[in-house]
Amino acid sequence: MTDDAAIADLGDLLAPYAKRCDEFLDRWLIEPGVPENLATAMRYCVMNGGKRLRPGLVQMAGETGTREDPELTARAAVAVELVHCYSLVHDDLPAMDDDTLRRGRPTAHVQFGEAMAILSGDALLTRAFSVLTESQEARSVDLVLELTRAAGPSGMIAGQVADMKLCDVPEGLEGITYVHTRKTAALLRASAVMGGISGGLEDGDIEALGQYGHVLGLAFQLFDDVLDVTGDAGTLGKTPGKDAGTDKRTLVAQSGLDAARKLGEDLSAQAIAALDGFGGRAEKLVRLAALLTKRTH
Ligand code: IPE
Ligand code: IPE
Ligand code: MG
Ligand code: MG
Ligand code: MG
Repeated sequence: MTDDAAIADLGDLLAPYAKRCDEFLDRWLIEPGVPENLATAMRYCVMNGGKRLRPGLVQMAGETGTREDPELTARAAVAVELVHCYSLVHDDLPAMDDDTLRRGRPTAHVQFGEAMAILSGDALLTRAFSVLTESQEARSVDLVLELTRAAGPSGMIAGQVADMKLCDVPEGLEGITYVHTRKTAALLRASAVMGGISGGLEDGDIEALGQYGHVLGLAFQLFDDVLDVTGDAGTLGKTPGKDAGTDKRTLVAQSGLDAARKLGEDLSAQAIAALDGFGGRAEKLVRLAALLTKRTH
């Protein structure tokens, strides 16, 4: 792993975990029998320089355990990233956020057309679950349950439905928290929990990891909304100003940049506090929460 003194930002911290995740993604993404042009589109949506925050989280959480199954951790890391990549492809579609730039490149529907983008997203979502279960490890069932609950209709999809204003949510911070808990924090929570499962942690520790991932996810989305206002396309790799342009419900719009940053920082501190009982074992996760508040993309 990287020398601790050399870790200056989130990218440095995630780099070794991202590298390992990319090696496994490369190995597992395309199963035999995938049509060549679908495989090309799937690779385009995944092998494209994402931060790999969620796989990093899975691996860092896995490392806190003394009974880690490294292959299961790798499968969990790949599966959460595949679900995340699918969610980005669908999030960018004209019927949703209608974005043309993702990870510094044209979005999937711009590059391949809408039908192939939708189908590539479907392919990534389903492939996530075969990657998880091909391990034949008994614990993979627990991983599937975590991931389906987080990504499914009471988790990320509920959040996306609310984000698209297809259902009512309460006014103010309560409604924003409802959306952020589901559309973003659910997958970060699941990442931490899945790492805890593959790391062989006790139930109490897995619960603490879940709380850490949940509040970290809330902070992460607040900073995503801040960066949507303060960032530039070159650094972000996506088009800034989208939230105001599409009248999204954000804390930045409601209470301003400083209030959003302040709550993000408070939540990051809460995430760190959730791991009090871990001591030095959680050092990487503590650094992750601290560096997340300073991210630029
Ligand atoms: C973007 O996630 C979508 C949100 C939930 C805010 P990331 O900022 O992790 O995107 P990548 O994976 O680095 O592209
Ligand atoms: C995305 O939220 C949440 C997902 C489930 C993909 P955003 O719509 O704010 O993410 P970006 O800004 O497009 O990456
Ligand atoms: Mg969106
Ligand atoms: Mg979007
Ligand atoms: Mg955003």
